[in-house]
Amino acid sequence: MAGVANQNILLGVTGGIAAYKSVELARLLVKGGARVRVVMTEAACRFVSPLTFQAVTANPVRTQLFDEAHEAAMGHIELARWADQMIIAPASADFMARMAQGLADDLLSTLYLASTASVTVAPAMNRRMWRHPAVQHNLSLLEDRGIRILGPETGEQACGDTGIGRMSEPSEIFAALDVAAGSGLFAGRKVLITAGPTHEPFDPVRFIGNRSSGKMGFAVAQAFVREGAEVLLVSGPVQLATPAGVQRINVQTALQMREAVFDNIQAVDIFVACAAVADYRPESPRENKIKKTDDRLELNLLRNPDILAEVAALEKGPFTLGFAAETENLAENARAKLSKKKLDMLAANRVGDDLGFESDDNSLLVLWPNGEKQLPLQNKQQLAHALITLLEQQYRDAGRGD
Ligand code: CTP
Repeated sequence: MAGVANQNILLGVTGGIAAYKSVELARLLVKGGARVRVVMTEAACRFVSPLTFQAVTANPVRTQLFDEAHEAAMGHIELARWADQMIIAPASADFMARMAQGLADDLLSTLYLASTASVTVAPAMNRRMWRHPAVQHNLSLLEDRGIRILGPETGEQACGDTGIGRMSEPSEIFAALDVAAGSGLFAGRKVLITAGPTHEPFDPVRFIGNRSSGKMGFAVAQAFVREGAEVLLVSGPVQLATPAGVQRINVQTALQMREAVFDNIQAVDIFVACAAVADYRPESPRENKIKKTDDRLELNLLRNPDILAEVAALEKGPFTLGFAAETENLAENARAKLSKKKLDMLAANRVGDDLGFESDDNSLLVLWPNGEKQLPLQNKQQLAHALITLLEQQYRDAGRGD
């Protein structure tokens, strides 16, 4: 079923005048078919009564971590597990700071730490508070953890100021949660994704690597999970948090990546090779750190196995999507790669000149044997969603979607 219908939504309300707007959000969610449970901080209760939310959601509202009656009915860990999505609206500067620090000194902050649900935050505060470096720093910490931030909007504020800090409208928050819930495009499908670079050691402290950040692969993993897939992410060394609901295996080298892929390829429906696998590895890595005694140092390199080509060659193997990073002749090289590796799809992007690897935005030329589509420049989350929507069409056309 599409969107929030039948989803379990935990609505966290923190202290701010915008709390009254969250009553409308709760109403929209209930109307959209979601099961809604509300948790309020102590400060939130000063703005709106728990009874109001209780009446709208037809569920008891929780405000305390240590509440024997409520704990007996549904313990807080159980409540954290119950949620498919968590929305904090409004999120005060104080609550964002507590999330960023990982404090667990009340029920809502504890639930945030204990839950693996996807989290959306709709901040609301005075414009000066919003612009304060401390708040902006916390915001970027939360964003780095994959938390979705909605708003705040610019306009008239309760304190009489005009500027940025108003909570997004309930209808907009509802729409974002509805989209984030996905429509179960890949429900019941198993997806294996490789991401990040590989590091090929030539002594205990040095390696040959590349500039892949892993962002695209992680965004693709998150997009598939949102659409109901079971996702295994085999990742090289990256500085990224695992998206909620994704199972992850960490590897360093191409050979380890290949092993992790082939240990798990059985029963996989879709294989997405986002990793920037090193094409070569040092033939015989030294046991000890190499000293700079000679003027020249020669390293012999051996060709690494092509994981994607091996998966594509499997009999009754999964649907395969590969990536290609090109600095020139993008379309031509990409089509050659698609047919050489016998892939179902290939997503090609231009790299170099600060494009691609480390940036948050990208564009892709997506090719399949009898067609292609250009996906315009956008952030990697949006791009990943557009990419898997295209993939779903090809997957179905290939007769795999039944
Ligand atoms: N790939 C792989 N195993 C390798 C090398 C690449 O699985 N050992 C996958 C990558 O994850 C990506 C695609 O193959 O999906 C990239 O193909 P490749 O031919 O390596 O592209 P480039 O690195 O762009 O290669 P070239 O330098 O030959 O253009």
